[in-house]
Amino acid sequence: MQFCGFSLRNNLFVAPMAGVTDRPFRQLCKRLGAALAVSEMVTSNSLLYGSAKTIRRANHAGEAAPISVQIAGADPLMLAQAARYNVENGAQIIDINMGCPAKKVCNVMAGSALMQDEALVARILESVVAAVPETPVTLKIRTGWNREHKNALAIARIAENAGIRALAIHGRTRADQYTGEAEYVTIAEVKAAVRIPVIANGDITTPEKAKAVLDLTHADGVMIGRAAQGRPWLFREIEHFLLTGEKLPPARVTEIHAILLTHLQDLYAFYGVDTGVKIARKHIAWYTRGLAGSAAFRKMMNALPSIALQQQAVDDFFLRLAQRSERLEYADMPDTQADAHSLEALAA
Ligand SMILES: Cc1cc2nc3c(=O)[nH]c(=O)nc-3n(C[C@H](O)[C@H](O)[C@H](O)COP(=O)(O)O)c2cc1C
Repeated sequence: MQFCGFSLRNNLFVAPMAGVTDRPFRQLCKRLGAALAVSEMVTSNSLLYGSAKTIRRANHAGEAAPISVQIAGADPLMLAQAARYNVENGAQIIDINMGCPAKKVCNVMAGSALMQDEALVARILESVVAAVPETPVTLKIRTGWNREHKNALAIARIAENAGIRALAIHGRTRADQYTGEAEYVTIAEVKAAVRIPVIANGDITTPEKAKAVLDLTHADGVMIGRAAQGRPWLFREIEHFLLTGEKLPPARVTEIHAILLTHLQDLYAFYGVDTGVKIARKHIAWYTRGLAGSAAFRKMMNALPSIALQQQAVDDFFLRLAQRSERLEYADMPDTQADAHSLEALAA
C-alpha cells in the first residue's frame, strides 16, 4: 500500500496506545507483520518540561521506517511546536490525536473533545501542516462527540482541505468511551466522501473481523490496538488471511516463548532494570492471558522483583505449556466470542 509517500508491506496499522506502543512494542509488531505503528502520544505542553518520559517517547533509534509520532494538545501553536520537535527527532509522519477520550487529555480540551469545535480543529490542522511542510500529517478521530453529534464526515472534509494526508477513525463516539461495539457505517460514509486514505479502527480482533471491516467500509487499511496487546503476531495472521483467505495455524509455543524473551530484553534495555521489570509485567500478563494456568502464574509473576526471576518464571511457564501442546491453545477466548457476535451484526 502507498501511504504518505511510503511504500508499506500491507495495510495493517498498530493503534497508538499510551503506555503500550513504546519503541520495543512497535518494533516487534513491525517485525511480525504490521506495516506501521504509531507511537504513544507526546503531549504538546510536556515538551516544555523535557521529562524523561517525553525524551524516551521521542527516541526512535533503530526503528524501522516509517516512523509515525502522535502529538496531542489543543493549542495550534504548541501543537505546531510539538510537530517540529518530533520531526527534528526523527518522526517521518506526524499524527494528531483527536481520538482519545482519556480524562487527562480531554479535560484540557484535547483528544476527541476537540471534535466539538470544528473551527478550532481547522486552525490546529492548518497550523501543524504549515509547521512541518516536508512531513506528512495524519489525523486520528472518533465518529463524533456523542451519538447525537457524529461529525466525523465534517471533520474529515476539514482535514482534507487542511492538507491532512490520511485519517484513522475509531468507530465509537467520545461519549461511548470504550463501551458497546464499534460501528463501521460512519467509517464507510467518510471513506466514500474523501479522497485521502481512511483507516478503520475499533474492536478488530481476528483476521475474519479485519476482512469484514475492510469489505464493509472499503477503508484503505485497518488499525488494531487492544487485540495486539500480548499478541503482536496477530498482524501476520491477518496479513496471511487477507492474502490467501486461509488462516495460519496457532503459533508454536516455542516461538512465542522466544518472541516474549526478546521483547523482555528490549524492555529492560529501553527502560532500565527497575522500570523495565514493572513494564514487562503487564506485557507478560497479556501474552499469557487465556493460556492454561495463567491466572496463578500472573499472580506469582507480579511479585517477582528482578530480571532473573522474571525470566525464569516465564521460562518455566512456557516450558510447561510446551509439554502440554506444540501450539498455543487458549482456554477462553472472550475476544473471539465477542467477535462472532459483531460479525453477525455486521452481516445483518
Ligand atoms: C491503553 C490504551 C491507550 C490508548 N492511548 C491512545 C493514545 O495515546 N492516542 C490515541 O489516539 N488513541 C489511544 N488509544 C485508543 C486506540 O488507539 C484505539 O483507537 C482504541 O483502542 C480502539 O481500537 P481497538 O479496539 O483495536 O483497541 C488508546 C487505547 C488504549 C486501550
